[in-house]
Amino acid sequence: MINVGLIGLGTVGQGVARLLTERREFLARRLGTDLVLKKVAEINPERRAQANLKPEQIASRDRDILDDPEIDIIVELIGGTDVARELVLEAIARGRHVVTANKALLAHHGNDILAAAARHEVDVAFEAAVCGGVPLILALRQGLAANHIQEIFGILNGTCNYILTQMSQQGMSYSQALAEAQQQGYAEADPTLDVEGIDTAHKLAILVSLAYCTPLNLEPIAVSGISKLDPLDLQFAGEFGYAVKLLAITRNDGSTIEARVHPTLIPRDHMLANVSGAFNAVYLTGDAVGPILLYGQGAGMMPTASAVVSDILDLGRNLTRGVKCRVPPLGCNAALESPRQIKPLDEVVTNYYIRFAAWDRPGVLSQISGILGKHQISIAAVIQKGREVKGAVPIVMITHEALEANMRQALLEIDQLPIVSPPTVFYRIEDPHLHAAQI
Ligand code: HSE
Repeated sequence: MINVGLIGLGTVGQGVARLLTERREFLARRLGTDLVLKKVAEINPERRAQANLKPEQIASRDRDILDDPEIDIIVELIGGTDVARELVLEAIARGRHVVTANKALLAHHGNDILAAAARHEVDVAFEAAVCGGVPLILALRQGLAANHIQEIFGILNGTCNYILTQMSQQGMSYSQALAEAQQQGYAEADPTLDVEGIDTAHKLAILVSLAYCTPLNLEPIAVSGISKLDPLDLQFAGEFGYAVKLLAITRNDGSTIEARVHPTLIPRDHMLANVSGAFNAVYLTGDAVGPILLYGQGAGMMPTASAVVSDILDLGRNLTRGVKCRVPPLGCNAALESPRQIKPLDEVVTNYYIRFAAWDRPGVLSQISGILGKHQISIAAVIQKGREVKGAVPIVMITHEALEANMRQALLEIDQLPIVSPPTVFYRIEDPHLHAAQI
């Protein structure tokens, strides 16, 4: 028999409790022994009252789980970073295996947690932390273990993808789409973590570590979210054949790695361009396997609970065989690897979409293109939309590959021109066809 202690009966906790309770026999058959939800700790009395559990299963204090010597696996589902960190570290120190869905916790404190787990020889599993129900962590830790991962493009936040889908398909503004996402229960009352790309960055930090066997490192990941997106740019991007997605991007050039989160233009025929609504998807390339696409629900009660329970079963299987720490949390022997550097954003080379608001006069384009040229930025396509309204007309450009530092410097200079109404808007493009076009 394996005993599970669950801390936190929020949406995901309720889903986990449901699966462990309603599928007890089914899971026992899979595991070969009984998997018991021994105790659930929840601080909120209403949630405790509403839980469909036996009174002896319910506790109000985390301590009731930490202090129970019969509990083998502790599942942390309270979210946040401070209390969760203390809890997880204490569970590890007491020799318990831990399952968590907490990406923020891992992104901020993952190195300490994994080091403690190694010292105490316990497992820490976190399948639900990235892309909810999609078994992406398992794929990176095990299924793709023979590969050097070359690049990963991820739609890792369902809230942002829902908002962007509403903006592009229904022509909504950002605030209309956000209100709609809140009404549908996709976005939180305070949506900052999602819409500013922070949740995506937490998840990317975990993917980078898994992909390249390097310590978790959130700080150098460049992040921008979707809250400033103007529907005009979605429309212009569409005219150039692009969809706009909030992408987590990481790429390995052999010496340094790129890791960045930002709204990105991708060709409309790219598989990720057709991922709509609140779904998540990851398109990654391994050197042996080639491209892989994983797609599914990255949030919600049952998809996330599905991932949490898969971790519980996996650890349960170890326990029934008397083994532990069989697969390292990041899938590699970190002691044999040196930490990888993340390239500063200024050193990234990519293609750009730029929208200027400029006077509609002879010579305007030549002034703008002169500054771009001075900074080694070559224009691949340009359109001017309509005639001047309120003193400015939108001019939209697609560039060939350029260095980010050059692009920023050029735009600083262009925004000083009297013929331009700042700030000029720019977004990065990921389009292999554009690279080919330059050659
Ligand atoms: N808030 C996240 C999303 C789910 O919208 O995808 C949990 O990471």
